[in-house]
Amino acid sequence: MGLLFYYGDMTHQEIREKFLNFFKERGHAVVPSSSLLPDDPSVLFTTAGMQQFKKYYTGEADPIKDFGSKNTASIQKSVRTVDIEEVGDNTHATFFEMLGNFSFGGYWKKEAIQYGYDFMIKDLGISPERVVVSIFKGDHENNIPEDRESLEIWKSFGVPDDKIIFGDKEDNFWGPTGSKGPCGPTTEIYIDGVEIWNIVFNEFFCDEHKKYLPLEIKGIDTGMGLERLAVMLQGKNNVYETDLSLPVITEIRGKELYDHENNRKAERIIADHMKAAIFMISDGVLPSNSEQGYVLRRLLRRAIRYVKSLDLPDDIYKRILHVVSHDIYVGVYPELSKKQDEILEVIENERYKFSKALSNGIKEFERISSGTNVISGKDVFDLYTTFGFPVELTKELAEEKGVELDTKSFEAEMEKHKELSKAGQEKKFGGHGLILDTGELKAGNEEELKKVTRLHTATHLLHAALRKVLGEEVHQAGSDITAERLRFDFNFNRKLTDEEKKEIENLANKAVDDDLLVTMREMPYEEAVKLGALSFFKEKYPSTVKVYTVGDWDKPFSRELCGGPHVEQTGEIGRITIKKEQSVGTGIRRIRAIVE
Ligand code: SER
Repeated sequence: MGLLFYYGDMTHQEIREKFLNFFKERGHAVVPSSSLLPDDPSVLFTTAGMQQFKKYYTGEADPIKDFGSKNTASIQKSVRTVDIEEVGDNTHATFFEMLGNFSFGGYWKKEAIQYGYDFMIKDLGISPERVVVSIFKGDHENNIPEDRESLEIWKSFGVPDDKIIFGDKEDNFWGPTGSKGPCGPTTEIYIDGVEIWNIVFNEFFCDEHKKYLPLEIKGIDTGMGLERLAVMLQGKNNVYETDLSLPVITEIRGKELYDHENNRKAERIIADHMKAAIFMISDGVLPSNSEQGYVLRRLLRRAIRYVKSLDLPDDIYKRILHVVSHDIYVGVYPELSKKQDEILEVIENERYKFSKALSNGIKEFERISSGTNVISGKDVFDLYTTFGFPVELTKELAEEKGVELDTKSFEAEMEKHKELSKAGQEKKFGGHGLILDTGELKAGNEEELKKVTRLHTATHLLHAALRKVLGEEVHQAGSDITAERLRFDFNFNRKLTDEEKKEIENLANKAVDDDLLVTMREMPYEEAVKLGALSFFKEKYPSTVKVYTVGDWDKPFSRELCGGPHVEQTGEIGRITIKKEQSVGTGIRRIRAIVE
């Protein structure tokens, strides 16, 4: 059945211990895993063990001072979502841990390869026949030579020629993580055709312009996926059968210990996504519509959907959380069980929000998918902007229903949006007699320009106030500003009460009375998102974006990605009055407001 777990094999706790001891005995300082939220603003999540050590490779920090050694070893929790659609097969997962040894100007290729080989062959007892290695074959374009040194080292260990393969930059070159950082050629160890260990030789610093500059301190960075290693050492077929995941799968299946092929994908997605979500929440991520929060929201909502598809009881989240924090990782990440109540609250909260959005979204999906074989790109796009339906969710629903998505027109829709956003970032003069036409704002002369500028900042204040009063899930679905009025569409599924309208108006006017400073800063997109700036689509924005902040920098009243223009102080806006509130489609409300 492949289900029962035999503890005759090495447990993940034993693997951890063996690995860290091996490197401790060889002069490495053992460093705990860093948070899933890296210091590095150019990446959303920690995706590799080396990330917390970036500053030691570049010489910005001193490893002797911090660790008492130039060499370290760690087991790093990591998240990668690039392959999220593959989760459910035998090898892909979004959450994983990476065993790694690192050196910052300590040892170099000979020792790094030796350690890798010895740990595999001598400590873990892998037969050398199962081993294949790969080496960087060089890259003419960037003037990086073939890695002959590694080749000679492997040969000296007796690895035969036919077990040495050569890879290009795609396969045998690492980094940088984010926009810049240490990088270099790699050599990889494969066991039975599966990549197990990646050894990176950080010889270069890759800058924003993709220039490879030699690093003064040469560094070693290695990474070995704990889950894959466990599959191999525990004699399993896939990552869901090891002791790092099987307890969750068992909890999902309940007492009925059968492996139903039909349910396999669903239970694996639930197990993986719940694990990732639990670790993210424990590191301080909350579901939201901006980057890390959005990834978390997406993972949770996807898991929730599969829980529904398997018809599992509502207490499944609580039970999975218990298994993850108490059974699997109890000795490794004690914070999980300490924060259990908080984590559960976040999950339950999101579940509640999603169930509301889901029933509206599914109704809308049924509407647009009935009587047709193909759903238009515009409809897919609207489902996303209006109901927070991730495109992949729409895809899955469509697949289940046997209808197609017009992906071409969807892409065209995305392009259009991109053009609009671009246009929104520049003032267009001339043409049709307007001196400003960003798509959102229109003004015919200087006077109108001043008025729409005031209305534009008022729109940001109302947007922030709406979210404060109605909830964070409220986001912009459209905006249109003329010299007379602002018009703002947002997702919300009922009429606002008079009290709510008053409260929103009061909040916005309080910001006016406080005469808050409006500042604009240009910054990398990732940084903007980290600062919590409201935005829609990651793909839409250039790498550098403008961010408008109203009020205190650390605790702003409002912060949005925006092309402007805006007033300098909110006092310039004048009194904001909401004139009308109405529905303009399922789940979308529209307000009109004026400033006086
Ligand atoms: N940074 C490399 C990787 O993640 C080796 O640790 O594969």
